[in-house]
Amino acid sequence: MQLTDEERSILEGAKGPTLRKAMESVVLYGETFKAERLVPMEHAVHLVTSFGIPMLTPVFSIMDELIQGGIKPGKPFTVDPRPMDFKNVPCSLIERLVFKKIMYGKQEEYERQLLATGLAGEDAFTCTCYLKEVGNTPKRGDILAWAESSAVVYANSVLGARSNRNSGVIELLCGVVGKAPHFGLLTDEGRKASWVIDLRTSKLPEAQILGSAIGMKVIEDVPYIKGLSRFLGNDITDDVSDYLKDMGAASASNGAVGLFHVDGLTPEARDEGEKLILPQSQTYVIDDAEIERVKAGYPVMWKNPNAKPALAFIGCPHLSLHQLIAWVSRLESGLAASGRKSLAVSTVFTAAPQVVKAFKAQAELYERFVRTGARLSSICPLMYMNNPLASKKAVATNSNKLRTYTTARYYTDEEITAIVTGGK
Ligand code: F3S
Repeated sequence: MQLTDEERSILEGAKGPTLRKAMESVVLYGETFKAERLVPMEHAVHLVTSFGIPMLTPVFSIMDELIQGGIKPGKPFTVDPRPMDFKNVPCSLIERLVFKKIMYGKQEEYERQLLATGLAGEDAFTCTCYLKEVGNTPKRGDILAWAESSAVVYANSVLGARSNRNSGVIELLCGVVGKAPHFGLLTDEGRKASWVIDLRTSKLPEAQILGSAIGMKVIEDVPYIKGLSRFLGNDITDDVSDYLKDMGAASASNGAVGLFHVDGLTPEARDEGEKLILPQSQTYVIDDAEIERVKAGYPVMWKNPNAKPALAFIGCPHLSLHQLIAWVSRLESGLAASGRKSLAVSTVFTAAPQVVKAFKAQAELYERFVRTGARLSSICPLMYMNNPLASKKAVATNSNKLRTYTTARYYTDEEITAIVTGGK
């Protein structure tokens, strides 16, 4: 790899042993992917590792070393959601013990380490760091080294920033050296599409199913989606941003998509159009039947497929303020239709702490939300589900990411509304 004089001197230890090790890790990582150089990162880091699982001892010792060396990323950073919230998410006594003492026994200590290495604050825990309420919002062309897959795909595709899908901890080390290896989605060539998605559905598909279909087909390649702006238009409004957030997260988890282009809508597709499509690209046609086929293929992991859900999670990735507000009337209409006063299933809506605050500030809306019996948290539902006790529960979700990684069962927005409001 071609290094500048300054990078080489850091690698030789001119700025101390800790920064030397961090630089060495970043260089080795870049060389693994045949990067020819490092490029400066102006924008803040977002970390994926938000959980104090005791077996992550190398992470804790890296953090200790950074703290002792007085080394931090150049800008305050954000991190994925916390794994526990006993106040707002139903947990039995035994679950609390398992979470606190076993699964996430190092949580408090790890959070202290995060704050000491430059975490933006107690509220900096969310996967939707790019939302305006949170403020870790890259702009077009910004070089990033993020790892959270749902945030990477949103930043690349909707905001036009440039990040690879990095590994956890590498993002932190890139942050402390202030550089990222130049390869993959950081390059113009790496952002070209090798798949054309020809969307021919009769109506706008559920974002979470469309993303899932695309992810399972293209895996880690870049898709160029045609036919979606028929439904979404040509501007990234709040509705469109929410749709692309959820579609992207599903494509990133059901496959490994790090960037998509939507013809006539996303920033690079608006500027360059079909020049973004590689000559040898393949085509995947998605029509109504294909959407149905993909949805029907999801396995049901519940012990009893006919069980009544014990819990529902809505908000993986975390909901935007606009989505939370939309859910209030959706729940009220569902309850009016079922004739119930409050929800039939314990339902947790998840959003960034700053979005939760903004929602609570709209007192009348928040009051209506609370009246339905819904709960509001900033937890990561996957971290909650990721243990033998929770995974035995019949959990419903409208998140394809949560479905993919846990035993939660996927339902469309309409289906889950009917379930939690007692209409089905
Ligand atoms: Fe976010 Fe956790 Fe889902 S990090 S995308 S809420 S799995």
